[in-house]
Amino acid sequence: MENIFVHIRRRLEWMKELGLNVWLETTETASSDSSSKEVELKRLADEISVCRKCRLGSLRKNAVFGTGNPNADLVFIGEAPGATEDETGLPFVGAAGNLLTQELGKHGISRDEVFICNILKCRPPNNRDPLPDEIASCEPYLLRQLDLLNPRLLCGLGRFAVMTLLKRPISIMKIRGTWQSYHGIPLFVCLHPAAVLHQPQNRQLFSADIAALARAYRERHDRLPEVKEANLI
Ligand code: URA
Repeated sequence: MENIFVHIRRRLEWMKELGLNVWLETTETASSDSSSKEVELKRLADEISVCRKCRLGSLRKNAVFGTGNPNADLVFIGEAPGATEDETGLPFVGAAGNLLTQELGKHGISRDEVFICNILKCRPPNNRDPLPDEIASCEPYLLRQLDLLNPRLLCGLGRFAVMTLLKRPISIMKIRGTWQSYHGIPLFVCLHPAAVLHQPQNRQLFSADIAALARAYRERHDRLPEVKEANLI
């Protein structure tokens, strides 16, 4: 229930920023909303840290809930933690994460300003693709996380993550740089930074994806990105 008030408040704040005549309680309410959101996120992270819904629960060193700004307008969603993420409990901290941080930095976007997470919260052994039952166990956590974060935009990183979110086979090279939708939230499709490290010839495309995303993110006071009907494969 609390969530719906956070959601309404953010919409009203947005309308106020657009110059509409909206009356809002002062920041005391806002900061208590914000801190209750942090409490809820922490509660969810604690629940995930002891999850045993699938086999990965007994294989992990650390669950990787995600990090960043609880009030982020933009949430990045990757596939699953890798070895460094499993060690540290933090998402996108290896070489791929560094590349993502670097590209965002070119547009003045810091990791603290956005939120970064994965579909799976635990590392699959040897970084294999997540299995359907692992996704079925873990995706509800992602949905609860997004419900709390209430972002304006999402960015799906890589073929597997985007395919999982869209529930359809996709060609990442065909739909990268387009806007899709996940549970009603605009979802930008981006190459995965790890794939770019393996295929450096795609580096420019990755830079172009992040640049397009940064533009949409900065244009936050205009309209939401248009989701175009696209042939996904
Ligand atoms: N790749 C992902 O998809 N997620 C991470 O956290 C790290 C690498």
